[in-house]
Amino acid sequence: WQKDVPLGDAAKNVTGTRVKVFGRIHRLRVQKQATFLTLKDGYGFLQCVIAAGPLTSTYEALLFAQETSLFLYGELRTVPEGATAPDARELHVDYYEVYGRAPGDAEAITNIVASGQQDPWESDMLDKRHLVLRGEKASAVMKLRSILYESFIIQYKERRIAAVSPPAFVQTQVEGGSTLFKVPYYSEDAYLTQSSQLYLETCLPSMGDVYCIEKSFRAEKSLTRRHLSEYTHIEAELDAIDFDDLLTHIEDMICGVVDAVLADPAGKELVELLNPGFVKPQRPFKRMKYTDAIDWLNAQDPPVPNEFGEPHVFGDDIAEAAERKMVDTLNVPVLLTHFPAEVKAFYMKKDPQDLRVTESVDVLMPNVGEIVGGSMRMDKYEELMEAFKGKGLNPEPYYWYLDQRKYGSSPHGGYGLGLERFLAWLAHQHTVRTCCLYPRFMGRAKP
Ligand code: 4AD
Ligand code: MG
Repeated sequence: WQKDVPLGDAAKNVTGTRVKVFGRIHRLRVQKQATFLTLKDGYGFLQCVIAAGPLTSTYEALLFAQETSLFLYGELRTVPEGATAPDARELHVDYYEVYGRAPGDAEAITNIVASGQQDPWESDMLDKRHLVLRGEKASAVMKLRSILYESFIIQYKERRIAAVSPPAFVQTQVEGGSTLFKVPYYSEDAYLTQSSQLYLETCLPSMGDVYCIEKSFRAEKSLTRRHLSEYTHIEAELDAIDFDDLLTHIEDMICGVVDAVLADPAGKELVELLNPGFVKPQRPFKRMKYTDAIDWLNAQDPPVPNEFGEPHVFGDDIAEAAERKMVDTLNVPVLLTHFPAEVKAFYMKKDPQDLRVTESVDVLMPNVGEIVGGSMRMDKYEELMEAFKGKGLNPEPYYWYLDQRKYGSSPHGGYGLGLERFLAWLAHQHTVRTCCLYPRFMGRAKP
């Protein structure tokens, strides 16, 4: 390595020794007695002090700017009583080498980095996302995302749920034709996958319970806080279960993942930084049937209307605004269950107690709304054929999906969770756009 230690916490145990570190200038303060740099390297921050004198009067030192990258040499010391610095340490610099200069003045990116993510709607900020990401808050969200991602993998492993990797080029829709991206595929057409669910179902006989973390693609034609055209979809499929098992598993996974993130000191620190008011969800989650949700919406003063401005009636979709009104008022996670078959996808199993509705669930979180969609699956061949007909779908391309019902069917179910939405909830982000590296949505495919 060119450097002795990464910045931040990792450098704690070398206090009192001379080290070589590398980083970029995050903050710069030039004072009479010394130049203070807050250096960053992606691991953390370190305050560096260059005493006024020959080291600060060089041409390079005069051109120090935010994002200038440099190697610094010096002794790591605990800061004096009363002074503040990240991790209470500072580097007393005795030598440095500038590696990459950065422009100051008009081209300085101070505002971009400092603005972090205050305006993720502004196209200039989106064009400069690669620089915005260098900001403290923006990078904190990405670091938390990394810990969250790993926590899911660990939780699945602990539950003996195996990872699989289904294809992204597909020829069957899962969640409705209107959001399909069609792509030329050699001499035929294919779609970008909307969900790996159907493939996960085919793995049950060979692998047992399975999950995948893949990209899903939706040609969403609206610009909202929570819709992306490409998002990270965490999906699992569980064999030989009933609807109640599914709900319990989802609750258990969400709480398990939150506990795992908070058990990681870095995860805890990031949640505290980004979402100081965060409270761990309490189990069991509030459970509410679709019909009760409709009643609840109509009983508000004033009533919360459906998407046409009318009172909600059975069979209406619960639109984003109504959903959020509900969950923000209740202010706890909600398992919203038993949606009517007509507002949900073809594969959802009907509730034997009430054939108008399905064994389906959406998990709603305050501030975000739906973060999970799941259901029990129709597992009878004939019933599934009927469902295809009902939704006007040609069953032919689904021959492999139907074969699961033909060769030893099982009661099974699963769910999909949007990682960006989960992160928006955990990190208290206004929109999913700040929860992915380079958001993709209608009208944006750069940088
Ligand atoms: O509710 P959805 O459409 O359900 C499915 O795709 C099922 N086939 C999943 C399954 O059972 N295996 O999507 C699941 C979740 C949503 O709850 C939401 O969190 C996220 O995926 N999601 C999106 N996230 C960001 N942008 C979009 N356009 C999203 N569409 C869905
Ligand atoms: Mg859904």
